[in-house]
Amino acid sequence: MSSAASMETLVSLCKRRGFIYQSSEIYGGLASAWDYGPMGVELKNRVQNFWWREMTQLHDDIVGLDASILMHPRVWEASGHVENFTDPLVDCKKCKQRFRADQIPAENMISHKCPECGGELTDPRQFNLMFKTHIGPVESEGSVVYLRPETAQGIYVNFKNVVQTARMRIPFGIAQVGKAFRNEITTKNFIFRTCEFEQMEMQFFIHPSDDQKYFEQWKQERFDFYKRMGIRESRLRFHQHGPDELAHYAKIAFDIQYEFPFGWKELEGIHNRTDYDLRRHMEYSKKDLTYLDDLREGERYIPYVIETSAGLTRTVLTVLADAYDEDEVEGEKRVVMRLHPELAPITVGVFPLVKKDGLAEMAREIERDLRHEYATFYDQGGAIGRRYRRQDEIGTPFGVTVDYQSKEDRTVTLRYRDSMEQVRVPIAQLSETIRRAVREYRRPT
Ligand code: GAP
Repeated sequence: MSSAASMETLVSLCKRRGFIYQSSEIYGGLASAWDYGPMGVELKNRVQNFWWREMTQLHDDIVGLDASILMHPRVWEASGHVENFTDPLVDCKKCKQRFRADQIPAENMISHKCPECGGELTDPRQFNLMFKTHIGPVESEGSVVYLRPETAQGIYVNFKNVVQTARMRIPFGIAQVGKAFRNEITTKNFIFRTCEFEQMEMQFFIHPSDDQKYFEQWKQERFDFYKRMGIRESRLRFHQHGPDELAHYAKIAFDIQYEFPFGWKELEGIHNRTDYDLRRHMEYSKKDLTYLDDLREGERYIPYVIETSAGLTRTVLTVLADAYDEDEVEGEKRVVMRLHPELAPITVGVFPLVKKDGLAEMAREIERDLRHEYATFYDQGGAIGRRYRRQDEIGTPFGVTVDYQSKEDRTVTLRYRDSMEQVRVPIAQLSETIRRAVREYRRPT
């Protein structure tokens, strides 16, 4: 049995334990922006590394890229974002609130009444989600640039570069992690939907006739990825986009959804983008982006693309929501984050039972040895039970305690976060024992 976290509980734990803070809090905060604290940045980096290793290191046919956020403005005309990347918005003339027309009850749209105050609503108008700014000192039409709303376009415009310089042959993929920006109106639910966020995207270039095969393959691979990360399968499902949900570039799209505390929502999108993007970039740039396939008797074609597009910051929320659990220890509630050990900000906590009699020195020495391989934390303050509890709450999977017996036989107690089981391990075997436990980790059901 595990306990689901409410959003209030999660937000409060994230603040209290240094995972995530409201941006610019001392000025009253900026509603749609969040900062990652000491624990949060470690968790986010580990989620990113987990994805990067999976997509690049473990796949011979995928290479990485890091394209810039600012791109030539013609990119966004070619991609269709200038024309199509819009939300229908309505304003309340009385309370001045702004809503997405597709997210308020149909009866309010019919009666033109504000769902909050009953005031009169304007007719819907299309609002582009891209942030616009200017490059250089003069704010003219000619200096307009956009903050990228997806990382994918950086990959398409570098397709030819990668083919030529990394000598990649179709089928192959290009992976990228980076910031994206959208002027979102609905920015509630913590880090779920924000104006500034990070994406982990991979574009897989294929022969057009193979699109269904690779679409199915990537759908499954991406679903399995979340299971490997320790996310509970019962909280994951697919959702196929209906015709009214499809993005302007997509022929077929499936979301992987997660059951967040506020319901089933998109975590990642898998899209068949056909040759839409490369074809448009050919038209707008007048450059040849076709591919000459020597494995297909010299056939020349515009590759199709299967895209896997995950939100990094949204995955962090998923990992946190999924990890949260409560149980009872000696009549007291224990809050425990059941994070996969490869994601936990701290892997091993090291504690002397007491500060005196050389135990602190011995514990420090063990911690200094372990830190070359693991993220460690040394804590000598307070009762040992309390120290364990503090680490449980941030998801530290292993605790090492040095006691009087350690001085006699050079063994320590290794405590497992999930089961709270404690075993005696020789100091010389500590590293290897932890390594094995990380590799074999399974979340208790
Ligand atoms: N390149 C395709 C693309 O951007 P998307 O479905 O619009 O597709 C992909 O976005 C993923 O990016 C989403 O599944 C979500 O995880 C994340 N994402 C999108 N908008 C976001 C936002 N405003 N805040 C946080 N994450 C967001």
